[in-house]
Amino acid sequence: MSNPGLQQIVNLALDKRCSLMESTTNLIRLIDGEGDRLPGCYLERFGEAWLISTSSPKIDPLLCEILSEYHRPLYWKRLDQHQKQSPTHLSGPLMPQFFLGVENDLNCQLSFDSGYSQGVFIDQRENRAQLKSIVQPGSTVLNTFSYTGFFSVAAASNGATTTTLDLSQVYLDWARENFRANQIPIEEHYFCKGDTFHWLQRFAKQGRKFDAIILDPPTFSRDHKGKVFRVERDFPLLFDLAIRCLAPHGTILSCTNFRGLSAADFMEQLKTVAPRHSRLESHPMPEDFTGPSYLKSIWSTHA
Ligand SMILES: C[S@@+](CC[C@H](N)C(=O)[O-])C[C@H]1O[C@@H](n2cnc3c(N)ncnc32)[C@H](O)[C@@H]1O
Repeated sequence: MSNPGLQQIVNLALDKRCSLMESTTNLIRLIDGEGDRLPGCYLERFGEAWLISTSSPKIDPLLCEILSEYHRPLYWKRLDQHQKQSPTHLSGPLMPQFFLGVENDLNCQLSFDSGYSQGVFIDQRENRAQLKSIVQPGSTVLNTFSYTGFFSVAAASNGATTTTLDLSQVYLDWARENFRANQIPIEEHYFCKGDTFHWLQRFAKQGRKFDAIILDPPTFSRDHKGKVFRVERDFPLLFDLAIRCLAPHGTILSCTNFRGLSAADFMEQLKTVAPRHSRLESHPMPEDFTGPSYLKSIWSTHA
């Protein structure tokens, strides 16, 4: 090997994740950029496949060669492009259009053929586990900005009745597939298409309450009337709306991966609207995310 340094970096990164690799989870970040001395380069395990993401338009051929030697289906995604595209195949067997990954014994449908995101945000693993641990049979959970509904699956797997809410019908259908992939009857759960702000207002008016609410919005979004939501400005409004739909002693998970908002500022933002006697607690990212802690997660409980 002409560059033992790079091989060593890869070995070290994989060794660090040894215990996770032996667990029932195969959705893992294997190399986390500067956290593993490879700035701009991220390797993730999605089931049997590996996905390398780079923030530059080229991939180091030596890194490619090193990773190919593991004989996994290896795919590549560019993070620097404006036009966000599906990953491209680099080496190893091709993956089918849809395949399964496992997180803490729960199945998740994945795809390298369905656009920029693969069906799960691995960095939310600990939050999903936390949600699963706090719900019990009969708990009600509202998963807003649900994407493919994996938070809902985690809660439903412990007996909660879930409401999964997203703007996108494609993602709601994908969420239903994730329920089926875990033999959870979808008839016992709710799927709502539409805008989170609209639905929260509607639930508040109807007096509908949930024991747990997940708020993980995109950094920036625009509704059908052109109204803009910006995390750094509007999260308190979202949090306040959610509080109005929360059952007594309920829990809210508030998340943002917006790098322009520090963990301390995010906490301050939420504190400005949290009712007295609320308890807010910041949670760290999973251990395989060794780089900068971009995902801010605040769990709050309300009297
Ligand atoms: C960052 S992803 C959420 C990730 C998800 N919480 C998870 O961990 O799997 C953002 C999702 O919000 C949805 N979305 C964007 N704006 C929305 C809105 N105003 N109301 C409901 N869903 C929205 C998008 O379709 C997308 O699925």
